Amino acid sequence: MDGPTQLLIGGKFKDSLSGRTFPTINPATEEVLAEISEAEEPDIDAAVKAARAAFNHKSWRSMPARERSKLLWKIGDLIMQNADELALLETMDNGKPIFESRYVDVPSAAETFYYYAGWCTKIEGETIPVPGNFLNYTLREPYGVCGIITPWNFPLLLVAWKLAPALACGNTAVLKIAEETPITGLRLGQLCQEAGLPDGVVNVVPGFGETAGRALVAHPDVDKISFTGSTAVGKEIMRTAADTLKKVSLELGGKSPNIVFADSDLDAAAKGAFNGIFYGKGEVCNAGSRLLVEESVHDRLMEKLLERARKLQPGDPLNPKTRLGALVSAAQMDKVIGYIELGKKEGAAPVLPGGRAGNTGFFVKPAIFDTVDPAMRIAQEEIFGPVLAVLTFKDVDELVEKANSTIYGLAAAVWTRDVAKAHKLAQRLQAGTVWINAYNMTSAESPFGGYKQSGYGRELGKYGIDLYSQVKSVWVSLD
Ligand code: NAI
Ligand code: MG
Repeated sequence: MDGPTQLLIGGKFKDSLSGRTFPTINPATEEVLAEISEAEEPDIDAAVKAARAAFNHKSWRSMPARERSKLLWKIGDLIMQNADELALLETMDNGKPIFESRYVDVPSAAETFYYYAGWCTKIEGETIPVPGNFLNYTLREPYGVCGIITPWNFPLLLVAWKLAPALACGNTAVLKIAEETPITGLRLGQLCQEAGLPDGVVNVVPGFGETAGRALVAHPDVDKISFTGSTAVGKEIMRTAADTLKKVSLELGGKSPNIVFADSDLDAAAKGAFNGIFYGKGEVCNAGSRLLVEESVHDRLMEKLLERARKLQPGDPLNPKTRLGALVSAAQMDKVIGYIELGKKEGAAPVLPGGRAGNTGFFVKPAIFDTVDPAMRIAQEEIFGPVLAVLTFKDVDELVEKANSTIYGLAAAVWTRDVAKAHKLAQRLQAGTVWINAYNMTSAESPFGGYKQSGYGRELGKYGIDLYSQVKSVWVSLD
């Protein structure tokens, strides 16, 4: 594998201070792709110092917004110029189909930089009518050093969602990318240097959560932590961040309901149910992992869904025709298979049984459980794999109660031809995103984030600017 494997600190790629490395694996072959330098507390400290120095340096601090804008645009261009390579690296490191990496992850990452390039010159203050003889106005300023901690399911894209708005606002960043998939984040760091960002504005420090991640969250000179990952670690991060009262934003897990009414276009709904759970191997925070079907169309919908799902077989992620790749790691495969066993024990009907495919690579076949009770663990807990729980409902009130009956609130979808019903439901569902006759849509322009235990704060769109800037109120006496 070509591409950087060392830590990026202060503009230079270097070994970790301990000299230690860890392997990253191709989950489709179980072969080691590369040995990656392992950041630990002293490396995190060095990266934070570099980010602080870059934040205070005039090359970044005094850079006109329009110049920052051009740099962000350039990063977007470099992502697209290297799209084939980045997609290949993403697929080899994560196991997702090349079709997804090349046509979703990589272009969406570039679009996120293009979108926030436009914001750089539009981050403005206000003048506010206050009583007395004063001029009052606001300044919108960066926080300083942002610690960015990302997971392995969209390794490049989720870095882009955080880094692009952080840079647009004038922050500097330390990226603690996921230990399972460090390759594209390091390559992105290299592209940031190539684009001409001043040294130390972007630092990339792969390492483990308990060591590198925790050190970043605890570091007294980090101003803000932006995290995507599990709800359990999100809670841990808030506890650790409390000591230094860091600003924290969290994008966490989900158990999103995909709701199908009898009056929907059932072919479209079946396709939406299929893509909702099997896209990205189901390792997607907003996966439609609970299918809630109006009882009268249950059998017809299941027939259509099963017809599609039976044809879906895991395959070589590098084959452009593959639509279901390998799960990211042996641990994730074991977790998912554990839930498939649990579903059977809990008494749900395994209408598509799932299970491991082959002996090499972490491939798991699609699983669908019917007659799931809302109290079952497979209806409550995030599985993060190609496993669907199917529940039924008779009327809208019962549906709303079931749909909102988990600790999560990331996303929901409604399939119906009744426009008023769809919009009324959009108001009653406890979710940060609601799709109507669609699934999985996200875009740099539109806010994304969680209700309830799915998180804090909204990423993307103009809301992304709020996450990476703070407001100062300035009073001027006119006497
Ligand atoms: P995780 O939450 O442990 O890892 C996400 C990131 O947090 C990684 O970069 C990791 O190194 C870091 N991290 C872990 N512990 C930390 C700590 N104490 N302090 C600071 N950083 C820390 O997720 P994991 O273990 O990889 O996956 C477990 C489950 O989490 C999955 O099966 C899935 O259910 C959920 N998950 C949800 C994601 C989402 O997009 N909402 C993404 C990844 C996982
Ligand atoms: Mg890997």
